[in-house]
Amino acid sequence: MKTLWVVSGGAEAVPGIRRAKEMGLRVVVSDGNPSAPGAALADEFVQASTYDVTATVKAASDYHRNRCPLNGVISIAADVPLTVATVAAELGLPGIPVETALLASDKLAMKSCFKERGIPIPWFHPVESSGHLRELMKEHGVPLVIKPVDSRGARGVLRLMESTDLDWAFRHAHQFSPSGRVMVEEYLSGPQISTESLLLDEYAYTPGFCDRNYEFLERFAPYMIENGGEQPSFLTPEEQEQVKRCAESAGRALGIKAGIAKGDIVLTPGGPKVIEIAARLSGGWFSTDQIPLATGVDLIGAAIRLSLGERPSAEELEIRNQQGVAIRYFFPPPGIITSIRNVEKASRLPGVYKLDFFVKPGEAVEPVTNHTKRCGYVITSGSDRVEAVKRACEVVNTIQIETRN
Ligand SMILES: Nc1ncnc2c1ncn2[C@@H]1O[C@H](COP(=O)(O)OP(=O)(O)OP(=O)(O)O)[C@@H](O)[C@H]1O
Ligand SMILES: [Mg+2]
Repeated sequence: MKTLWVVSGGAEAVPGIRRAKEMGLRVVVSDGNPSAPGAALADEFVQASTYDVTATVKAASDYHRNRCPLNGVISIAADVPLTVATVAAELGLPGIPVETALLASDKLAMKSCFKERGIPIPWFHPVESSGHLRELMKEHGVPLVIKPVDSRGARGVLRLMESTDLDWAFRHAHQFSPSGRVMVEEYLSGPQISTESLLLDEYAYTPGFCDRNYEFLERFAPYMIENGGEQPSFLTPEEQEQVKRCAESAGRALGIKAGIAKGDIVLTPGGPKVIEIAARLSGGWFSTDQIPLATGVDLIGAAIRLSLGERPSAEELEIRNQQGVAIRYFFPPPGIITSIRNVEKASRLPGVYKLDFFVKPGEAVEPVTNHTKRCGYVITSGSDRVEAVKRACEVVNTIQIETRN
């Protein structure tokens, strides 16, 4: 029996941990939180914060030497490529190079790598101060996007217009960077796409291809808040192919020879451009639920096998049965939640696959300033994209989340 070490036992890792167990693996979960939902499912739980590379490496090495040899290490829906790559390197397990994980953990280093390798990206520059930001804006015009170099969940990501208070914007982005570094880049207009590929011999199979919904760009401005997404994409097959090849060359540029590349890509009038590539399985129920539901591809299973040194076949990564899948989020007015109504009724609506809330009555809904402030979500399926979206919107309109100040 092979043993797989899973870094993170968070709620979004649960379907992946279940999949690993179904595959007959012994699963060890590490997480800083012993009550993480994945901990209870694991064959063994080891306490180590997912972001703490040293602690996780020490825990995994001790386990490997003294308890039971590990055959693979992976993270599911947790943005910790450096932790995973370092454990793999230390124990001689399959994985992406540590150098690749470092690039994937630093948006500035990543963009510099892309620039060097000729990957299409927006213009970008590090920002030292709000005065510097003012100069850059004078030179490059608006709209621009400011962001911390090393955060996630769109924390500190702002769209800058002529009227934005730049002192505030710089401070806001800066507070979310653990290393105190901020960057600015050209705002890319065009359809936003999430891709998720498995690279094998540097060829990308891309079962994950989702149109992201930014209908609330103005409502939540200057914060950039995604309201879900839908599959299959409305882009033409030729456009989809261009986006996929762009994600593939970006993944390769980072040094991913065999591994997952999760892309944030914009199809601009000048062709696809890369916002970012994550060297790990996606969160937000994309890799674990939306992709298999929309395509029939068991991407998690394939990624687990890859992490064990096995080779997924081309057939298992090819889309088998495409159906419509949509996700939408709930955005009640900020305040304390007094009630969440019609949940039962909404969950019985056609095509509802998953419906859940991150906050409950008595808890606070905060103003929406990044993706972690969304209150809950629904995932629906349908015969096609349009039906799936319609069904998700029906659920959003049925659920009533009341708040008071
Ligand atoms: N230059 C840009 N042009 C257009 N949209 C952008 C740009 N930069 C970021 N965005 C949008 O904002 C989202 C969040 O930005 P980014 O990915 O840089 O931050 P993040 O903290 O990694 O967020 P997440 O974890 O949600 O990916 C992107 O996925 C994209 O939709
Ligand atoms: Mg991102």
